[in-house]
Amino acid sequence: MNKPLMTGAAALIPVILLSGFALAQSAQVEALRGADVDEPVPLDEIHRNVEGRIQRNYRQQPPLVPHSIEQYQIDLRTNQCLSCHDWTKAGERNAPTLSMTHYLDRDGNELDNIAGTRYFCNQCHVPQANAPALVDNVFEPSSGN
Ligand code: HEC
Ligand code: HEC
Repeated sequence: MNKPLMTGAAALIPVILLSGFALAQSAQVEALRGADVDEPVPLDEIHRNVEGRIQRNYRQQPPLVPHSIEQYQIDLRTNQCLSCHDWTKAGERNAPTLSMTHYLDRDGNELDNIAGTRYFCNQCHVPQANAPALVDNVFEPSSGN
């Protein structure tokens, strides 16, 4: 083995690294978001979740969800929506109680727990994002006449 040559090459490594570093330092670093690192950039309003109660577009419409639902798991075992909206919790959580229609089974019997037919909330209730419409919508509710 040619030891002295190996150590020579190894000694060169920091030199190469350092000069590379110096080069990188002198080049202008451009942030991807187009602003200095310490400059606050306000989030775009577009695609933000719409917060605050949203008016119904027709009388029987399931109310739209006025908050994000990203973190709320709904599966066979858990339904996190119920931890705020079930009648047993809504008061202390300051959330609107589930409509009483959600406690009726298919035969109209009143239940203490949410009816199976209303368990998967996001079948009917969806949040809204402030995003450009993908297709035009000319829906008008019936006047009821
Ligand atoms: C941490 C508590 C909490 C959780 C969990 C929660 N909500 Fe809410 N929800 C609220 C509160 C508080 C309001 C009232 C907000 C307001 O008035 O702006 C609300 C409002 C709503 C409304 C509007 C009701 C109306 O009459 O306009 C719907 C629909 C709704 N939530 C559905 C859901 C669904 C579906 C989930 C689960 C994916 C969920 N919520 C999870 C607290 C919660
Ligand atoms: C099959 C559709 C459907 C499902 C599933 C459903 N809802 Fe609803 N929800 C409605 C409709 C329609 C209304 C408005 C009419 C009414 O009060 O029944 C409503 C009303 C509500 C309201 C408003 C109550 C009020 O008095 O203002 C809340 C809150 C709500 N639902 C939460 C939920 C949550 C949470 C779940 C899941 C546990 C859920 N809903 C499941 C259709 C549904």
